[in-house]
Amino acid sequence: MKKPAQRSQEIQPFQVMAILAQAQAMQAEGHDVIHLEVGEPDFTTAEPMVNAAISAMQAGHTKYTPALGLPQLRERIADYYQQRFGVSINPQRIVLTPGASGALLLLSAARLDVNDKLLLADPGYPCNRHFARTFEAHGQLVPAGPEDRYQLTPSLIRQHWQADTKVALVASPANPTGTVLSLDEMQALADEVRQQRAQHGQGELWVDEIYQGLNYNSEPQTVLSVADDAVVLNSFSKFFGMTGWRLGWCVVPESWVPTMDTLAQNLFLAPPTPAQYAALAAFDDDAMAIYEQRRQELQQRRDYLLTALPQLGFNIPVIPEGAFYIYADASRFTDNSLEFCAEALKATGVAFTPGVDFGEYQANTHVRFAFTTNLSRLKQAVERLADWLAERS
Ligand SMILES: Cc1ncc(COP(=O)(O)O)c(C=O)c1O
Repeated sequence: MKKPAQRSQEIQPFQVMAILAQAQAMQAEGHDVIHLEVGEPDFTTAEPMVNAAISAMQAGHTKYTPALGLPQLRERIADYYQQRFGVSINPQRIVLTPGASGALLLLSAARLDVNDKLLLADPGYPCNRHFARTFEAHGQLVPAGPEDRYQLTPSLIRQHWQADTKVALVASPANPTGTVLSLDEMQALADEVRQQRAQHGQGELWVDEIYQGLNYNSEPQTVLSVADDAVVLNSFSKFFGMTGWRLGWCVVPESWVPTMDTLAQNLFLAPPTPAQYAALAAFDDDAMAIYEQRRQELQQRRDYLLTALPQLGFNIPVIPEGAFYIYADASRFTDNSLEFCAEALKATGVAFTPGVDFGEYQANTHVRFAFTTNLSRLKQAVERLADWLAERS
């Protein structure tokens, strides 16, 4: 039988899937597993959106919407940019997609030519480079250490930009590190990319703002406040708590919209209709009040782990200011993060993610803890890890 396409062979699965499978097998045997590996909060979708979806479906809104999404939702998102960030965006520039993943798919299809390069911080969200690869382009990993708060900087962009580099993609707040770019930093990145564009004839800044709103030390920001030519990716998955509904969006320059429309029509016809009707309720005050409560709870969990993990011997070189992850240096315990995570799970029933899922740079000495489970379970996890690490030493 013919082998799968070469490009598919270059796309690795998440290593954490092996951890997850091990965790599920342990659970099936009756073990109690504490999940700190999962990148989605334990909260279910808030009632206003659930009710809005039910009402919409009962009213017969079950058919395709336009490929770019419901016009009223595109307007609602534009209003949100105005109200929350004071930025005026033409709703025509907002493209609704099946998750931010759908936005990455469309953008990669629309913008990346064969062998183009996409600059990414290492560590970073692994799917980004795989989207590029799917379209025969390449993710170019740029080692970014704690001194740069694991983010691309103008000087890293300058150093690594090549004639065939097309895009610099950053995330704020970031996965797996939770670090946040200030508006000044975003402005500086946008300026640098413009300079590369002037010099090389191409250059785009894409900013993944999917964790926007899950901020603990400062107000959420958008790059659109300082760079109208930047591309934004966002989603209803994380802050709005709608992971399973598969709805996200991107904001693109107006001239790209017809291409995005044609590609969306062909690749997935339209984003899910019930999810779009649900999302119309996602910006209302009652829903916002629920997100705020949840944000505060996440902050308490983060604060607890920021104290507890260093006491166990994990080093946290940079305080995560957003998202729901702590990227910890485990070099005191291991130089093989996958093996360490597998052993920890087996011995303690606590599951967390090896650094190797997020790139190559210092990946074997780092692990990611997701604080997507409640405080009492986090405390149990820390107790179990403390006992195991004491036995091991
Ligand atoms: C940084 C980042 N970008 C994009 C996504 C994709 O999310 P979704 O497709 O659910 O919107 C994720 C999911 O974990 C992520 O962490």
